Amino acid sequence: MSTNVLLLGGGGREHAIAWKLAQSPRLGSLSNAPGNAGTAQYGENVAGLDENDGAAVVAAASRLRADLVVVGPEAPLAAGVADALRAEGVPVFGPSRAGAEIEWSKSFAKDLMADAGIETGHAATFDDPEAAMHYVRRFGGSHVVKADGLAAGKGVTVCDTPGEALAAIEEAMVDGVFGEAGARVLVEQRLSGPETSAHAFTDGTAVAHMPFSCDHKPVFDGDRGPNTGGMGVYSPPGWLAEDAARSIERDVTERAVSALAASGREYRGVLYPGMMITAGGPKVIEFNCRFGDPEAEALLPRLRSDLLEICNAVAHGRLADVEVEWSDEATVGVMMASGGYPGSYDTGVPISGVGGSDYGVQVFLAGAQRDEAGVLRTAGGRVLCVVARGASLAEAREAAYERVRAISFEGAHYRTDIGAREGETDGDGA
Ligand code: AMP
Ligand code: GLY
Repeated sequence: MSTNVLLLGGGGREHAIAWKLAQSPRLGSLSNAPGNAGTAQYGENVAGLDENDGAAVVAAASRLRADLVVVGPEAPLAAGVADALRAEGVPVFGPSRAGAEIEWSKSFAKDLMADAGIETGHAATFDDPEAAMHYVRRFGGSHVVKADGLAAGKGVTVCDTPGEALAAIEEAMVDGVFGEAGARVLVEQRLSGPETSAHAFTDGTAVAHMPFSCDHKPVFDGDRGPNTGGMGVYSPPGWLAEDAARSIERDVTERAVSALAASGREYRGVLYPGMMITAGGPKVIEFNCRFGDPEAEALLPRLRSDLLEICNAVAHGRLADVEVEWSDEATVGVMMASGGYPGSYDTGVPISGVGGSDYGVQVFLAGAQRDEAGVLRTAGGRVLCVVARGASLAEAREAAYERVRAISFEGAHYRTDIGAREGETDGDGA
């Protein structure tokens, strides 16, 4: 029996998900909303559907005869789209709004971690800017100021001095630069150490851990410049010790899944803690309720099993019945971004050199669309992610950059050190 899928989202992550779903012999039709030029290679992009509107998605799922809805980004989950679909009996890969709260409310995530005994940086939560500022003045030191709600990856300010923290509190709570998301802030202890993303599939009971992967958030080489949505990714991190890896799986991910289940929050999808490996051990930086982007682009090429079968099993609460196997290969993904990103940038710039996929190298399109004449043009800040597989990280990196150099668009920029500092560990204090 084939499965018709409606896939929500339109980034590089969704191109990677569509590419992997399309390898399944059981895929019927694939519809994407909003999709991009990448997802369009495997199915129809549905125009005019607001993926954050539960009633509209339910109506589209019925019209498209979808047997499964796969949710890529966090916004539809936070908006309760998975709940609306389940209420109508449509199977969904993606947690309920209550389950997704682990991402859309950082204070909820902190409370859950405290109750479940999950290691994370100490933080205080404030609804009043004066109280937050008083706390910073009183305790001094370096803090990280975090908007409580979803802020498209921009709500976190890592501060060197109390003065910077005061300014960040003012921006979030008084100037309202993150809107409602910043009405409540967390002032968190600043940690240091290398970071890794720990993805897992879960149906709320069974957990299938994925390999570890590492995002590169700052825009420039050497982790300099402002943070972005992610400029590149590699998997696996050879520097991550086996005992730390197992401890993250057991003492973070599995505990969080149990805690969500114990509180009656339905959770079927991907759960991924962002971890920092401090001198005091692994600590959670944040929880996410979906695949990372660009992490998905580096993980899915390593998945040997049928993604459609896994998504169906997760959606139906049968994850324990399926095999989830990964290759030993390494992957490196290099993001090519629009000139000016993460600041303002132009769109509509023609892209050349994307071509087809060479063996072992995939170009996952993100902010890229075809115009009426079929010309591929930029349509966002992160434009595409070139992902290569290799027997080693060095081999994968070389293949990725060779492909990157063949692609061009005016203003394009990318980091040249993705996966290059892999051996380095700088866990120099907690
Ligand atoms: P997030 O938007 O939550 O992924 O945070 C963005 C980045 O901020 C993370 O990848 C970390 O590099 C940094 N960050 C978050 N929390 C802390 C912390 N407590 N200490 C140091 N850096 C942090
Ligand atoms: N790669 C970071 C994120 O998707 O949140």
